[in-house]
Amino acid sequence: MKRITRMLGIEFPIVLAPLGGEAACAPLVAAVSNAGGLGILGAAYMAPARISEVIAQIRGLTSKPFGVNLFCPLTWQRESARIDEFVARIAPYHAELGLAPPQVPEKFEEDFDAQFDAVLQAEVPVFSFTFGDLGRERIAALQSEGCKVWGTATQVREALHLAALGVDAIFAQGAEAGAHRGSFLGTRDEGLVGTLALVPQIADAVPLPVIAAGGIADARGVRAVQALGASAAAAGTAFLLAAECPISAAYRAALQAGRDHETVLTRAFSGRWARGLANRFTRELADAPLPDFPIPNALTRPLRQAAGPAGRAEFLSLWAGQAVALAKPAPAADIVHALARGWQTD
Ligand SMILES: Cc1cc2nc3c(=O)[nH]c(=O)nc-3n(C[C@H](O)[C@H](O)[C@H](O)COP(=O)(O)O)c2cc1C
Repeated sequence: MKRITRMLGIEFPIVLAPLGGEAACAPLVAAVSNAGGLGILGAAYMAPARISEVIAQIRGLTSKPFGVNLFCPLTWQRESARIDEFVARIAPYHAELGLAPPQVPEKFEEDFDAQFDAVLQAEVPVFSFTFGDLGRERIAALQSEGCKVWGTATQVREALHLAALGVDAIFAQGAEAGAHRGSFLGTRDEGLVGTLALVPQIADAVPLPVIAAGGIADARGVRAVQALGASAAAAGTAFLLAAECPISAAYRAALQAGRDHETVLTRAFSGRWARGLANRFTRELADAPLPDFPIPNALTRPLRQAAGPAGRAEFLSLWAGQAVALAKPAPAADIVHALARGWQTD
């Protein structure tokens, strides 16, 4: 049970789950690590040079272990008709916000190889990945630098697959979790196993430490996943209200008003299933034909970036898990300590 704290030499088995996008910053990651947990930087949307810069900032703020997370590259098709259709669907929202009409960008995502090299060269203590299979070679390359590698699974089959590749631990993401599903095998619904069912079944199937995530937002959730066989508990949504988290006031207000029944799984913002608070955008685009991930993600970025400062939460991707109403504004260290109170030490 103590395997994660022992693996990393940290005080509490409490993890800041990777939060890619506007929540990703050095002060939040460092605050969690300084408080005795493990902060993980969600670096998936960062350019390689920015990844190196933020890792250096984290090192300037803490001497404790921390992690970095990337999305595994996915294969996708560029279908012009779908792109044009999607652009036409979001154009009225641009007009409503006074933005120039949507443009199709030159590139839809960062170069994964270069992102990965930036992380590898930085020799970080923990690397976590989601959306699939990083490949044996990359896992071994990280491990040879002393890095612990965690893969994300949303069902037992995925955990077995990752274990066979040689990861050091499994990040078990239950269906309650906020933002993108990490699933990479089977259908959407097959990857929607709840945390209560997922954690013990992965713990039984795989001889590796399990980090539980999805719906954990206070000491009770931590105690529950410890009882289920987890070696650590990770929270994402609970840390979105941390004082160090730089999300927009509109997003913060929506989170504070959010209730358990108000999240939905949507593909509308990015082309990939993700959980967030329902809003006008998720409702109006619920049935829209979408280009493959990550194309919609790049196409909706200008809208999302403008909507935050404009206070227009109806155009924001309000990523949140089902325990959103348990999240409370506080310094990150207090959130770590409140969560850690749920972990029973022998
Ligand atoms: C705003 C937000 C951004 C996220 N970004 C990432 C990411 O970049 N990479 C990743 O592996 N998981 C990401 N996740 C998922 C979390 O790492 C984690 O699985 C989830 O937050 C746990 O469930 P909870 O939100 O109920 O605590 C994100 C979650 C949120 C809420």
